[in-house]
Amino acid sequence: MHSSPFRIGLGHDTHRLEPGGPLILGGLSLEHTRRAVGHSDADVLLHAITDAVLGAAALGDIGELFPDTDPANRGRDSAEMLDAAAERLADAGWEIVNLDCVVFAQRPKILPYRDQMRERVAAILGLSAHQVGLKAKTGEAVGPIGEELAIAAECVALIVRTHTGSPPA
Ligand code: CDP
Ligand code: ZN
Repeated sequence: MHSSPFRIGLGHDTHRLEPGGPLILGGLSLEHTRRAVGHSDADVLLHAITDAVLGAAALGDIGELFPDTDPANRGRDSAEMLDAAAERLADAGWEIVNLDCVVFAQRPKILPYRDQMRERVAAILGLSAHQVGLKAKTGEAVGPIGEELAIAAECVALIVRTHTGSPPA
């Protein structure tokens, strides 16, 4: 049966925001008046990327790899979880071609941090920044994003097979 060397994956994540800071996003700690709440460090962008990467290879999702019922995952650095997902991907015989991501946040402006964030994500995954697309959208001041009650992120990932023997199903 013909099997494409390429697969795509989609990741989505949302976290609640509460007063305080900093905001952990894309592996960076941003000075901000609100912070994301979660079991781990609540890095919504790294979580969406992790799910996109795992999803592309049908390797499950971040919650399966790092259950929020496990105390070991409390306050966990999301870069570690993304790194672990990337290792699973490599073990399964795949590598990332590129990522494209969207952050949904009323504030702060992501643009000033965008390139630093792309570099950070690329460094975690052993990619170069040109393989990591990153954009941001406000919530147009309406809904949970617009009212700064929540922050969300989405990511698509393209992966390519790295070895030809026994292709994954
Ligand atoms: O203009 P449009 O309604 O399409 O988008 P917007 O949500 O008003 O955002 C306008 C622009 O602001 C985006 O294209 C981003 O370049 C930037 N932006 C940002 O840097 N950080 C955010 N948290 C939201 C938007
Ligand atoms: Zn998350």
